[in-house]
Amino acid sequence: MESTSVRVILHGARGRMGRAISSVVPQYPGFQIAAEVDLGDDLATVVEQGDVVVDFSAPSATGHLLDVCVSARKPLVLGTTGHEEEDRRRIREASERIPIVWASNFSTGVNLLFWLVERAAMALGPSYDVEIIEMHHRHKQDAPSGTARTLAEILVRTRQPNRELDLVCGRHGLVGPRRSEEIGIHAVRGGDVVGDHTVIFATFGERLELTHRASSRETFARGALRAARWVLGRPAGLYDMQDVLGLRERA
Ligand SMILES: NC(=O)c1ccc[n+]([C@@H]2O[C@H](COP(=O)([O-])OP(=O)(O)OC[C@H]3O[C@@H](n4cnc5c(N)ncnc54)[C@H](OP(=O)(O)O)[C@@H]3O)[C@@H](O)[C@H]2O)c1
Repeated sequence: MESTSVRVILHGARGRMGRAISSVVPQYPGFQIAAEVDLGDDLATVVEQGDVVVDFSAPSATGHLLDVCVSARKPLVLGTTGHEEEDRRRIREASERIPIVWASNFSTGVNLLFWLVERAAMALGPSYDVEIIEMHHRHKQDAPSGTARTLAEILVRTRQPNRELDLVCGRHGLVGPRRSEEIGIHAVRGGDVVGDHTVIFATFGERLELTHRASSRETFARGALRAARWVLGRPAGLYDMQDVLGLRERA
């Protein structure tokens, strides 16, 4: 059996997630950090030292990151969130040339939450109002969180497949009654919260709440390493953690 270590290039290495990945790698004999890249370094100078690039940096870094990975033909695990549509388009375009695992959340529990939310939405139907509440630490740059956006995309895809996202990010003033098709998202910030997400399904007489709470970044770090091993040798394409965890139901 193949037993060589996966050589990881860590992009965003000095950040919270980068440090979390460095700290879990010694527990995994099958991985080594081949190079660390952060703001001011050039990925292009070290990319050949690794088998896969793992990125948790900033959306402003994504353009150059994609260019380097595509020209070096390196698989990419992309964890950064907060991309605008143009970046998202470039990620999809790059995935025609290299395999990319792009996930707003690498934890196993949140990916099971995605799966559960899809099934709950199918079972409960459009008469239930859905709202999403997320909470993160005070330093988080983007809002709503990438995970909350993924939850909203799942809800729209399941409840209203032919509609655009109809997100209401917080409410203020005389907003009137809620429309049945809107999805409210509420971003709470404070302290050192690693990441909480709740999806509420509410109707007359009852409500169902599905909640995930991350208490350590290790859960994302372990998931990202799992994705890094999984993506090696895959054909070009856009994958997510549902693929890595085998949760995707194939037609
Ligand atoms: N998908 C998931 O499961 C998951 C989980 C947690 C976080 N995230 C996302 O991952 C990203 C990083 O989160 P974090 O909490 O680790 O943030 P962070 O602590 O701010 O770390 C980001 C690191 O990337 C560096 N950086 C900025 N621009 C760069 C560039 N052009 N090239 C290389 N490095 C660059 C930053 O340097 P400076 O500090 O000098 O700017 C910093 O060291 C965020 O988008 C966050 O939302 C995703």
